[in-house]
Amino acid sequence: MNERTIYLDNNATTPLHPEVVNELSSSFKLYGNPSSMHFFGREALSRVEWAREQLGLLINADPSEIIFTGGGSESNNMVLKYFLSAAYSKGRNKIVTTVIEHPSVLETAKALEKEGLDVEFIGVDSKGRLKIDELEKAVDEKTALVSVMLANNEIGTIEDIKTIASIVHKKGALMHTDAVQGLGKIKVDVKDLEIDFLSFSGHKFYGPKGVGGLYIKKGQKIGTFIHGGHQEKGLRAGTINGPGIAGLGKAAEIARLELETEMEKLAALRDSLQAGIVNSIPDIHINGDPDNRLPGTLSVSFPGAEGESILLYLDLAGVAVSTGSACATGSLEPSHVLLATGLDIEYAHGSIRFSFGQFNVKEDVDYVLSILPEIIEKIRTMSTFRPKKDNTGDAKHRGPVISRKKDNTGAGRKQVCCSPMHPFDAKHRGSVISQEGAE
Ligand SMILES: Cc1ncc(COP(=O)(O)O)c(C=O)c1O
Repeated sequence: MNERTIYLDNNATTPLHPEVVNELSSSFKLYGNPSSMHFFGREALSRVEWAREQLGLLINADPSEIIFTGGGSESNNMVLKYFLSAAYSKGRNKIVTTVIEHPSVLETAKALEKEGLDVEFIGVDSKGRLKIDELEKAVDEKTALVSVMLANNEIGTIEDIKTIASIVHKKGALMHTDAVQGLGKIKVDVKDLEIDFLSFSGHKFYGPKGVGGLYIKKGQKIGTFIHGGHQEKGLRAGTINGPGIAGLGKAAEIARLELETEMEKLAALRDSLQAGIVNSIPDIHINGDPDNRLPGTLSVSFPGAEGESILLYLDLAGVAVSTGSACATGSLEPSHVLLATGLDIEYAHGSIRFSFGQFNVKEDVDYVLSILPEIIEKIRTMSTFRPKKDNTGDAKHRGPVISRKKDNTGAGRKQVCCSPMHPFDAKHRGSVISQEGAE
């Protein structure tokens, strides 16, 4: 491994905060089953309930409105799948969501569609913002649930959930938001946003992996997701993950206390990297909404340089980032999010996501800027995928034949694999690729 390592993949997962590590190690000693009535059980349960309070404080909810799950994917599945049975009983058999959701929403919605639910996927504009006019047309008296992510994991765009929720409620439907990327990074107030269900995950804000939760507004019903014991109000059976939940609670406490300072710090790092890239590398495109995106997220397209090659060269230099596409299996599938914003396929292929976290410093930005221009230049010189400018100044695609297949989420567009310039041999490649879909 390179002597110097810089982690710029905090949207994939974050390192544990040292105070979370302390909380975990002390909570692991509380081995009683939180559901047991004796002293050992009560001792473990008290940490779980403390954590519930911390989550409530972070999102302005009552602790009784929080249930703990095995993470963001589970929370999203739990909400969406409930509406398969519930929707029919109320005569509402439609779910509306967006084309840029995380696969745990997108794939669940597609599975429900196969089961007979009516599902509509709403598009986004070039900055990744939900098309409100499309939403207004789609949500009707048959709609049970609308699920729109708070912030996108790839481009960082923050959706206008408050406006969306008010449209949804006017039509008598319920509002779910996947806040996995937003929690601990931006202010989230469930009352102000008028949300009915909100998913979150510990490992995106310095907490442990495999633990997350769901906010369920008082008065809203949701069905049992895992049958068995009575844990978590009978909605999710299974012995409670006491230490994990306590660690998540500690992460929520830290996030609440440090949110504003962190937001400022991350935005400053992100902006200085963006300015440096704009000043030193020609022909680039910044993805997402520059005026309203997650403070630590920067998605950049470098047309003519395959994202996977850039990732691998940066990895060799000790810098960890992620790309919106991967060529590991020989067929390259660009990010459904980038394509949904209308980005050209070669721009989507040449995209890199830099995501900052609490432990990054200004020197990380300086280091990336000291190596990135040369890496891009090198790849662009070698690439068979180099778009050439024609005399109108438009980038022209030159390279392998592209075959596209489109479904209504945009996720099915496929491309015959390019030939990216890999600094590694094929054997090494599979193990280091960080791809959005793999998160
Ligand atoms: C927006 C979003 N939703 C859901 C998830 C899934 O969360 P978890 O890894 O806790 O299942 C992720 C993880 O990448 C995400 O970015």
